[in-house]
Amino acid sequence: MTTEIQTEIQTEIQAEVERRRNFAIISHPDAGKTTLTEKLLLYGGAIHEAGAVKVRKAQRHATSDWMAMEQQRGISITSTVLQFEYNNCQINLLDTPGHQDFSEDTYRTLAAADNAVMLEDAAKGLEPQTRKLFEVCKLRGLPIFTFINKMDRPGQEPLELLDEIEKELGLKTYPINWPIGTGDRFQGVFDRRKQKIHLFERTAHGSREALDRVFDLDDPRINELLDPDLYHQLKEELELLEHAGSEFDLDLVHAGKMTPVFFGSAMTNFGVQLFLDSFLDYALKPGSHLSTLGDMEPEYPEFTGFVFKLQANMDAKHRDRVAFVRVCTGKFEKDMTVNHARTGKVVRLSRPQKLFAQERQSIETAYPGDVIGLNNPGVFAIGDTIYMGKKLEYEGIPCFTPELFAYLKNPNPSKFKQFHKGVLELREEGAVQIMFSIDEAKRDPILAAVGQLQFEVVQFRLQNEYGAETLLEPLPYSVARWVTGGWEVLNKVGRIFNAAVVKDSWDRPVLLFKNEWNCRQAEADHPELKLTSIAPVVSIQPSESGEEE
Ligand code: G4P
Repeated sequence: MTTEIQTEIQTEIQAEVERRRNFAIISHPDAGKTTLTEKLLLYGGAIHEAGAVKVRKAQRHATSDWMAMEQQRGISITSTVLQFEYNNCQINLLDTPGHQDFSEDTYRTLAAADNAVMLEDAAKGLEPQTRKLFEVCKLRGLPIFTFINKMDRPGQEPLELLDEIEKELGLKTYPINWPIGTGDRFQGVFDRRKQKIHLFERTAHGSREALDRVFDLDDPRINELLDPDLYHQLKEELELLEHAGSEFDLDLVHAGKMTPVFFGSAMTNFGVQLFLDSFLDYALKPGSHLSTLGDMEPEYPEFTGFVFKLQANMDAKHRDRVAFVRVCTGKFEKDMTVNHARTGKVVRLSRPQKLFAQERQSIETAYPGDVIGLNNPGVFAIGDTIYMGKKLEYEGIPCFTPELFAYLKNPNPSKFKQFHKGVLELREEGAVQIMFSIDEAKRDPILAAVGQLQFEVVQFRLQNEYGAETLLEPLPYSVARWVTGGWEVLNKVGRIFNAAVVKDSWDRPVLLFKNEWNCRQAEADHPELKLTSIAPVVSIQPSESGEEE
């Protein structure tokens, strides 16, 4: 590449990076993720009437229906990235699978995100799935923006909700807007950035942008428009926030130590635009990624990226698999020929696609912060790096803590080969984690999953793709911890009460506990034992049998 072309490309990449914001929503089922996503798309002009994303609710059907649907459609119904333009910025919303399809992919998606939006239901506050996802964000130091939803319904006190985040997640909070009343008496929010009152008008089913009437805090008309007690309360609370609350610190936000908080109601569109505007101002642009060549800045002129998720089609007739790649540096162009770091092979990226809900569109170019879907007939594994120019490899993606365990049994000895191959390939693909008992007599693999659907998917695919029927024998554990320091440390500690010892696919010791309490007890009894719920990175290696393009 000549210096002139290089400078030109760098300028182009810089401009594209500058206008990109990428995020994932972390929430517990029912907090309103689908509704908020839809409203963000509505404000972003990507859809013109709310309702378009409703089809995603299909994900809530019973598992068996879900599989049948996958089969009928021939493509996966889970979308992975939604792109839209807003105020000349390109926003990439990475979808974190939730509900019944909660799996390791939900965690892995966060490896490709630059920011996270933590969505809470005002009545429920922090919920288990949100806490788990938060831990992964914390590990990555992602900036977290909090949207407290359903303010149109009776909820907890706003100050209590902030207190919960501060105490339980150890995050400082800074409310960017402040609610005026809640539930039936939710009348609007005060925008602390611009010092304006936004009055709430309930829109019919929220299918259009909400009417937003904006006033100064001391506008005389406010006395007539707001209930006097709420106005009084607002002034008091604002004073309290000014004196007792933290000061806004964007560096702390970017370091994932302070969360800007927004109150609103996604269903009625209220507060969505205020959120979006502030988010664009405060969110991190696509940043650097650690690699074997050091920290790679997005403006690095050569295209590089890593695979964070693989998605296989459930339909045996269309055995297509898609590898989702986060673009880290440079410019991606269709038909590019890139190097595959792990195998040393050259791969032509001829059918790149982006996904918008159900539709797949072919893409011509992509920049840092974008996600591209590549056809993957067995070439890619989770954590793989693809690159142009100098060889490099990005940090892999760790193993996340599974919570469901079961022996996977093969009832037909004559099918052992198919069973074995299938289990190996599905593990490599990242569909499920596989562990083994340390008791040599127990040879059946242990499936270790984050969500129930992973079990069903594995059994379904083994049957359909490999012709191997299987039986599951559930194990009574729900907490897995890797032992830092490995076998050496574990052997020194000796027997641990109320824990089973198994090994993961890399022969690392894992302790399985029936519950959190037993786990905490073991840590208290053996202070020398350091346990971790997220195992260090080992890239998943595809087997020799993987076909190639
Ligand atoms: P999820 O993807 O996080 O699981 O949540 P989803 O958006 O599907 O929302 C869950 C339920 O909460 C839906 O009700 C939705 O309408 C409702 N909801 C979302 N945001 C708000 C809000 O701001 N205010 C109120 N009052 N409700 C909200 P549903 O009865 O399950 O479905 P639907 O029949 O309303 O579509």
